[in-house]
Amino acid sequence: MLGRANAGFTDFSFLPDTLFLTWQRDPTTTMTVQWVGHAGEHPDIFFSAVQSPLARFGPGGGSAVWSAAHTTARPFPYTDLLVFRAELTGLTPGTEYQFRIGSHAENYRFRTMPTKATNGLSFVSGGDCGVNSHAAAVNVLAARQDPHFAVIGGDLAYDNGISPQAVLGFLRNYSRYMVDSAGRLIPMLACIGNHEVIGGYAKSREAAPLFLSLFDGLFRDHTFATLDFGDYLSLVLLDSGHVAPIGGEQADWLGKSLKDRAERPHVFAVNHVPAYPSYRPADSTGAGNRQFWVPQFEQHNVDIVLEHHDHTFKRTHPLRGGHVHPDGVLYLGDGSWGQIRAVNGPESRPYLAATGQAYHVSLHRLEGNHRYHMALDESGKIVDVCSSTKRPMHRRPGGYRHAIASRPRPN
Ligand SMILES: [Fe+2]
Ligand SMILES: [Fe+2]
Repeated sequence: MLGRANAGFTDFSFLPDTLFLTWQRDPTTTMTVQWVGHAGEHPDIFFSAVQSPLARFGPGGGSAVWSAAHTTARPFPYTDLLVFRAELTGLTPGTEYQFRIGSHAENYRFRTMPTKATNGLSFVSGGDCGVNSHAAAVNVLAARQDPHFAVIGGDLAYDNGISPQAVLGFLRNYSRYMVDSAGRLIPMLACIGNHEVIGGYAKSREAAPLFLSLFDGLFRDHTFATLDFGDYLSLVLLDSGHVAPIGGEQADWLGKSLKDRAERPHVFAVNHVPAYPSYRPADSTGAGNRQFWVPQFEQHNVDIVLEHHDHTFKRTHPLRGGHVHPDGVLYLGDGSWGQIRAVNGPESRPYLAATGQAYHVSLHRLEGNHRYHMALDESGKIVDVCSSTKRPMHRRPGGYRHAIASRPRPN
């Protein structure tokens, strides 16, 4: 079932089971509502700020002011279904909102992101989900942390560009479980992985029809993008060679995007294939990342890189050129939201600081200029904790010899 609708009545109740929130632009003042449903299910979205009890009884209080946002529909590939999308704009930062799909349907809630991270902000990250019971259990665990949002770094549904049923299963799991303890929907951001693409690597946008039917609001022209939260947090979402080549245009864009954000207190890069793998061979995995991206991460003061694809838990030491360095970049991963493999540990890979063979999600908390990173396994046990803060700038250009000699072969 994709939803319950009774279009014969004006006050129909409509509960799409694939409903989720995401962003196309500024998370402090916008929110995008999406679901997959049948033709004809395109009522407008009505939304309003949730009034505090005090405001309700104050002068002029008593009733919320509702605004409407128009819903658009686009094909959901390989099916007769449609992807419905409405962007709510002009919102007040740091505010709780309610919305309805249709005029008298059930209310859902969300919160806009604050303009300043003065009171702390947290989000969860991971990758490589799928639709099994472990992925669902990690959803429950992730939601229990009450994050402001979730970032999934590729291999979301394992649709391989051809299975709409896998995407629907993934969205149902996300929609059902990714709700915080106050009943607010937890927005989802994602970057592309090999299992979003027919053939996995070096293909065109047409080879990722299902992923892009959901996320082309953010990835409109390219499969890489930045998202800035006020003046305190930037996410740089990258394509590790699935549609866009790692070098060339994407690398040029990355350098400029990072340079513009070098002074921000929190800059996270998010990509799928890791530069510093914990399962796959180190010399042939992530060679493009190490050649084109790592020197830029270091030069432009990226704080954290979230990488995935290897289906393990890993934390690297702070690294510069693949060597442990006190002012290095921290790489966290490695994509085990719902998939798992045996792991190579620090004894065989000196760049690794901690590893584990566990389904896991990472919780990141930003407080002023400080960051706290916690890895939780499927049972809720804390398996790793670390903190980080902005490093001094090292304006050293690339061109050094990296600790890992790379063999140029496909990942
Ligand atoms: Fe994967
Ligand atoms: Fe992957």
